[in-house]
Amino acid sequence: MNHAYTATAEAHPNIAFIKYWGNRDHAERIPSNGSLSMNLRGLVTRTTVAFRPDLGSDRLILHGRPVGGQALARVSRVLERVRAWSAMGWYAEVRSENNFPTGAGVASSAAAFAALAVAAAAAAGLTLPERDLTRLARLGSGSASRSVPGGFVEWHAGASDENSYAESIAPPEHWALADCIAIVSAGHKAVGSSRGHRLAETSPYQPVRVADAPRRLNLCREAILQRDFAALAEIVEADCHMMHAVMQTSRPPLLYWGPPTVALMHAVRRWREQEGLPVAYTIDAGPNVHVLCPQEAAEVVRRKLAEVPGVQRVLVAGPGGPARVVE
Ligand code: PMV
Repeated sequence: MNHAYTATAEAHPNIAFIKYWGNRDHAERIPSNGSLSMNLRGLVTRTTVAFRPDLGSDRLILHGRPVGGQALARVSRVLERVRAWSAMGWYAEVRSENNFPTGAGVASSAAAFAALAVAAAAAAGLTLPERDLTRLARLGSGSASRSVPGGFVEWHAGASDENSYAESIAPPEHWALADCIAIVSAGHKAVGSSRGHRLAETSPYQPVRVADAPRRLNLCREAILQRDFAALAEIVEADCHMMHAVMQTSRPPLLYWGPPTVALMHAVRRWREQEGLPVAYTIDAGPNVHVLCPQEAAEVVRRKLAEVPGVQRVLVAGPGGPARVVE
């Protein structure tokens, strides 16, 4: 096998401050609204892609175990596009590992597909601009487009494959924020995000949420550029509630919160309003609560979160860099 057709890449997951929920085109993953996130340093997915002449189909090996079904189909979708964009005609073996618990409410698919896109392009000998790597990652998982660039990243919704891409609005050093992730359940989600995105359009609230997204994006982008934590806290929590309102009013309704999720939301509000602690929460398609704060407050926040009943563990991550080839 020619060594040149192998590459390894690493990527971080990200936490969305303005959420992506719902697609206008499910096949190409063109989202209903733009979104904005921060990459999470310290949490890493490492993926190796090897194109080989001896394979009769693509192969996926997660943490040393072969995986098929939907996960493999999504990986193949990204690999197919790499083959279409390059002279590569072979199937690939993809090996991937996370240094954080999969399915623990830390969106592992974002880091996984960002690392896959970067590794697969390099392995096929393609030198793509970052913008095209974000488009490639988007095909596997929408939020993965935001894990390709570094730091604070905006994914422009666009209307087609060409103009639905992500770019950094500020590097990781721009703002020393921390995401303190209170893990209340390490199990897999009841309804995955691919199905959730399809249900979004069944909620009467989704058109309202989508129409208001440019306003929220502007407020969030400004809060980040100005390093204005109070403004960030307000818009991040409002956006989180709008997404969960859509989820909870879909048919069938999706209720991702458990009792500890709600307890944590109340606790965070109390710490901010009564104790003056700079904190804000956001929640993805699961029960875990991401608590944002300036890095100097992270140790206090971590300790307080660990004391809330139902919290099993707290992960703390600062702003992370871009996805990159490591070998
Ligand atoms: O990229 P997906 O299909 O896993 O969807 C991500 C959905 C949320 O995590 C709930 C929101 C977001 O923007 O990350």
